[in-house]
Amino acid sequence: SMVPIGVNQFFNQDRVETGNAWKDLMNSNQTPLPIPPLLENKSLMPNVAEFHLNVQMSKKEFIKGKETNTLGYNGDYLGPVIRVRNGEKVSIKVKNNLNEETTVHRHGLEINGENDGGPHNIIKSGETWNPTFTINQPASTLWYHPHVMHNTGEQVYKGLAGLFYIDDEVTDSLNIPKEYGVNDVPLVIQDKRIDSSGKIEYNLGMHDVMMGFKGDTNLVNGAINPYLEVPRGKMRLRLLNGSNARIYEFVFSNNQKFYQIASDGGLLDKPVEMTKLVLSPAERAEIIVDFSEYKKGNVVELTNQGTELMKFVVKEEKQKASNIPDRLAQIERIDPSKSVKTRKFVFQGMGPMVNINGKQMDMNRIDEEVNLNATEIWEISNPSMGMMRGMAHPFHAHGVQFQMLDRDGNPPPANEAGWKDTILVNPGEKVRAIATFNHSGLFMYHCHILEHEDAGMMGQFKVK
Ligand code: C2O
Ligand code: CU
Ligand code: CU
Repeated sequence: SMVPIGVNQFFNQDRVETGNAWKDLMNSNQTPLPIPPLLENKSLMPNVAEFHLNVQMSKKEFIKGKETNTLGYNGDYLGPVIRVRNGEKVSIKVKNNLNEETTVHRHGLEINGENDGGPHNIIKSGETWNPTFTINQPASTLWYHPHVMHNTGEQVYKGLAGLFYIDDEVTDSLNIPKEYGVNDVPLVIQDKRIDSSGKIEYNLGMHDVMMGFKGDTNLVNGAINPYLEVPRGKMRLRLLNGSNARIYEFVFSNNQKFYQIASDGGLLDKPVEMTKLVLSPAERAEIIVDFSEYKKGNVVELTNQGTELMKFVVKEEKQKASNIPDRLAQIERIDPSKSVKTRKFVFQGMGPMVNINGKQMDMNRIDEEVNLNATEIWEISNPSMGMMRGMAHPFHAHGVQFQMLDRDGNPPPANEAGWKDTILVNPGEKVRAIATFNHSGLFMYHCHILEHEDAGMMGQFKVK
């Protein structure tokens, strides 16, 4: 339930000053927000980074005393943050310690097909895969996750997901919060169906096949209802909707306003003031929330449609002043007159029949051929048929970042006017987006509701 700021007596100033009394008063399953570790760069050479990832089976207690089987990268659930710079040469050694196949796709990364980690880049049980690539895109919050044919939903659900940060000179030069884990904190939001024994089984019923697998319990960085102590000042939160199917509407208690500064593929050209942020599966947003007007011990909650996801507890401590710059990045607009082709993608069907353009995924069929370095407009539509109210589908394509031209004929909302790799297309809508395809190879486009992707709402495009 929502606790308006300053009203909850458990958190009032007097009690806090006597120590950490408020903590004892919180219910027993209140845990501090886990902060994923930054993955160590094993390279000794400048401008070259080497990372080691172990994909492993593990166990975790989402509920105290109740253990469930999980999957993780280098740990029991989720993975470390891989942090690189634009221009850097990166090598990742991925060891698959599962007893099944996996892949590691870096979602949002502009990269060639062989290194993309899609369903063709299978890592067999016991094997190691070593993609090497050079970062050539602006600072952004990307992520990595498996992409196995028909098995992505379960592997992600069990815990395989992590963040992939890119830094560059533009973010270096801005006076925005950037101390990792202190005032620049990732929030991976997911939902789980946790049974009475604490297990998170992935058993799809017909309803899940239709609507996607949704949970009854929300997690932030793998914890249920965690809290984070924040300095009195500006906080940068990097949100990833890492759920299989749920669309979140993020609102702070007391309708606290905040500023979105980045979308999927990097900084916006200017901050967008808002009180509500919608993210569909796989979308990311960086936001800045200002806690400087609060008093020590005040609590602000992050909620989704009235349900609390986590708490921010304000600390006395002031932090280095940062600001919310008027201008962020210079985004060069892709000129629509440069487009050589408009390609149409139509979401169709329901449940096991979900498809794009009437076709379900076939690894041996290439659906679209794109010329290397060509600029194209992709028109994605989601016609609602007949009496059935359609579903919203998040469209995603690999290896490229788009600029939205219009959403249902209207200019893109300000927070979607930057770089996007995942675009929510609501029932009845048509979205046009433009991109230049600078990387060759075989790539996927698909709905990012993972049960739809696994059922075949995916296709392949080849850039050459
Ligand atoms: Cu987030 Cu095809 O992937
Ligand atoms: Cu992707
Ligand atoms: Cu879908």
